[in-house]
Amino acid sequence: MKIIQCSDYNELSLYVAQQFAQTIKSKPDCVLGFATGSTPIGAYKKLREMYDKGEIDFSKVTSFNLDEYYPIPPTDKNSYHYFMKENLFSHINLPEANINIPDGITTNPDDECKKYDERIERAGGIDLQLLGIGVNGHIGFNEPSASLESMTHKTSLTEQTVKSNARFFNSPEEVPRFALTMGIGSIMKAKRIILAASGENKMKAVEMLESGKINTMWPATVLNAHPNVTLVWCK
Ligand code: F6R
Repeated sequence: MKIIQCSDYNELSLYVAQQFAQTIKSKPDCVLGFATGSTPIGAYKKLREMYDKGEIDFSKVTSFNLDEYYPIPPTDKNSYHYFMKENLFSHINLPEANINIPDGITTNPDDECKKYDERIERAGGIDLQLLGIGVNGHIGFNEPSASLESMTHKTSLTEQTVKSNARFFNSPEEVPRFALTMGIGSIMKAKRIILAASGENKMKAVEMLESGKINTMWPATVLNAHPNVTLVWCK
């Protein structure tokens, strides 16, 4: 694992945006994996700026998001559909037909999850996947557990994640208790992974990841078994 320590959030965001820009430049029809949450907001802003300057073209890119709450309509301002539109998609020329995010209103979550993995396969796999990390070490919504699920699946959020994500909602009661998330296997299939961690509260999870050991109670540590991971972090 390559480890990059940044002096601040701006430097971290610039690094992530540059890696995405380079991937698009070297392979215009690349498949990108996006994450939501606070961490990637700065990188998405920088990608928008690069697009505005004519430095990158998303017209042939395909994207897959890691996860979506369940149930939640795409028009809900806390949905990851809404987040991606606000922070990236409505500002760039990534064709709507190339955007993939798990459907938060599907009536058949199991089928939606199965088809999501199939869509990733059909697209040729993810060239570059961005990950954030939960305070508890989760990636996507793969929460700490004695065993981790491989494929995209419906999952329950832990109380800690509900508490942590409540900052985006009016109250903890409004946070959906479920999510559809790429599984650990779906994530590990990505050709390259960048995990971005920002803030003191992520340092324990970063430490566990840096230890090199794999422990399913700290899900991100499975990335130690992937051949091309970059961990970029700042306090
Ligand atoms: C979001 C996701 C989550 C977040 C993680 C960190 O798509 O999959 O795993 O990356 O919860 O969230 P922030 O960046 O808000 O601290």
